[in-house]
Amino acid sequence: MIDPDTIRGLLTAIELKDASTAAHTWRVTLYSRALAESLGIDGNRLRRITVGAALHDVGKIDIDDAVLRKADRLNEDEFEAIRAHPVLGYDRLRSMGLGDTEILGMVRSHHEKWDGCGYPDGLTGEAIPVAARFLAVVDVFDAMTSVRPYREEVGTPAAERALGVIRDGRGVSFCPVCVDAFEGLYRSGGVTWILHYFNDGEQTVGFDSIEHLDEAIRGLAPGA
Ligand SMILES: [Fe+2]
Repeated sequence: MIDPDTIRGLLTAIELKDASTAAHTWRVTLYSRALAESLGIDGNRLRRITVGAALHDVGKIDIDDAVLRKADRLNEDEFEAIRAHPVLGYDRLRSMGLGDTEILGMVRSHHEKWDGCGYPDGLTGEAIPVAARFLAVVDVFDAMTSVRPYREEVGTPAAERALGVIRDGRGVSFCPVCVDAFEGLYRSGGVTWILHYFNDGEQTVGFDSIEHLDEAIRGLAPGA
């Protein structure tokens, strides 16, 4: 069991750690929730997925700032340090008493790939928790559509390019059902507002203003 204030404390820690990780995390939370809803998920499962998305990169709070914020190419050791974040996050939440398998699965397995070439466990296909599978899709989509110092193209052109990459990875890196669902959601216009949400490279809106997030935290069933 983990109480709402502890979860809020972790989200604050993410915000204080790195503004760009935080902005990415809150958009991914919105995308994940929209995708889950489009797949017919509601009620307590939707709340757990919302909270799991918000916590998915919580392991990054244990990573050295110099590595996390490095603008240049990472060396091998630094790359390994970043790759530790799913297990760091999982271990941290477990040690704090969180037992919810949906949330823990999203934190641990969002960098797994459909073909087994991901990390940390090299899970394949449907062995990857479903919420982690769609988190993998929206994680890449946001990484490719957010403002970065080295990227000029944002907005719709970047989104089309990102969708192309995700479609190319359908059944290879990504779960086919999740790719189709996300593309359908994007084409319906259902996530266009998220694409531009505090994506100006300047300021970060706090997690407390992310629609439905606090309600999800408060509504987590006892035993989470
Ligand atoms: Fe991650």
